[in-house]
Amino acid sequence: MSAGGVSSGVNRVWQLAARPTGFPSPEDFRLVEEAVPAPGPGQVVVRNEVMSVDPAMRGRMNDVPSYVAPFQLDRPLDGGAVGTVVASESPDVPVGASVLHGLGWREYAVLDAGHTRVVDTTIAPASAYLGVLGMPGLTAYAGLLDVAHMRPDENVFVSGAAGAVGSLAGQIARLRGARTVIGSAGSPEKVRYLVDDLGFDGAFNYKEGPIRTQLKQLTPDGIDVYFDNVGGEQLEAALFRMNLHGRVAVCGAISQYNSPEPYGIRNLSLLISKRVSLLGFLVMDHWDRRQAFVEEMSGWLREGKVKVSETFVDGIGHAVDAFLGMLRGENVGKMIVRLADPGEPV
Ligand SMILES: NC(=O)c1ccc[n+]([C@@H]2O[C@H](COP(=O)([O-])OP(=O)(O)OC[C@H]3O[C@@H](n4cnc5c(N)ncnc54)[C@H](OP(=O)(O)O)[C@@H]3O)[C@@H](O)[C@H]2O)c1
Repeated sequence: MSAGGVSSGVNRVWQLAARPTGFPSPEDFRLVEEAVPAPGPGQVVVRNEVMSVDPAMRGRMNDVPSYVAPFQLDRPLDGGAVGTVVASESPDVPVGASVLHGLGWREYAVLDAGHTRVVDTTIAPASAYLGVLGMPGLTAYAGLLDVAHMRPDENVFVSGAAGAVGSLAGQIARLRGARTVIGSAGSPEKVRYLVDDLGFDGAFNYKEGPIRTQLKQLTPDGIDVYFDNVGGEQLEAALFRMNLHGRVAVCGAISQYNSPEPYGIRNLSLLISKRVSLLGFLVMDHWDRRQAFVEEMSGWLREGKVKVSETFVDGIGHAVDAFLGMLRGENVGKMIVRLADPGEPV
């Protein structure tokens, strides 16, 4: 059953060397070389071609209980990746199959075939399964439609709007009939991109000028749905602008992930008078929506109605740069680390 193999036998793997305090630094990570293990019964060896760096990985670097276990010191990091099976001891996942799995941050992953999902890289590139057709896409879809229950003709605000989740949340809102879609992002280039390329009705740079004033100017009819990727000051500003019976899908709080002191939201009592609901969610509770999401998103992609943005960083040696760059806002759309070309000899 086993076929293929790994000629070099060397696997470069990123470990967590120290738990970051505040903004992580390159010294918190270590790249080690180890041998690629042979697959055991039911296992496959995957040569990773693309891997994801996600904001949630920052949370897993803290030693606190959460919905996913923290990363362990001196142990490999992990996360979403897509690659090609180069050796297999499983009848279900043959050599040559492209698979999505959870052992990124390394060149080769050895894992049970049951922990992989075969994906078709002839209909969409491998990176799409980490972005527009993957976890970030489903997060945008479920957050907007199932958590915030966005309805046609509503006014929508998306923060972190030029990132992986935000760029899709804004486009889905437009395609599902929002009256207006407003976004925020951290540079003038991103603001232009939201309006000129993605079709947002308006956008502002949260680093330039008071957030509350900028948001007020762009939302003369208030906000019915706020898709919150950042928390903190932008959440507070959005609460001032929420309409009666508005809904906030609390997706993420990236403005808080590296800050030593949490931003204290001062206007929560507005939830009462405006009957606004503020609902946090995790994409993992919405896997049952994956099929509906993939069908609808695939249709939009085929018709050219959704623009896909990806920022690539090349080489396993630069995976930490990509992660830190994503936290600093160096990405437009999904930040992806490219590890190998599928055409390259193993
Ligand atoms: N609930 C869930 O299940 C779920 C699933 C996936 C992701 N999320 C959350 O969704 C959010 C977006 O994730 P993503 O994967 O799409 O990442 P992303 O938006 O592609 O990348 C992160 C972006 O955050 C922005 N940022 C960094 N510091 C910021 C700050 N202080 N204030 C405002 N924005 C800041 C940067 O853009 P700028 O240039 O605009 O600053 C950066 O590009 C994150 O909060 C993440 O934790 C939640």
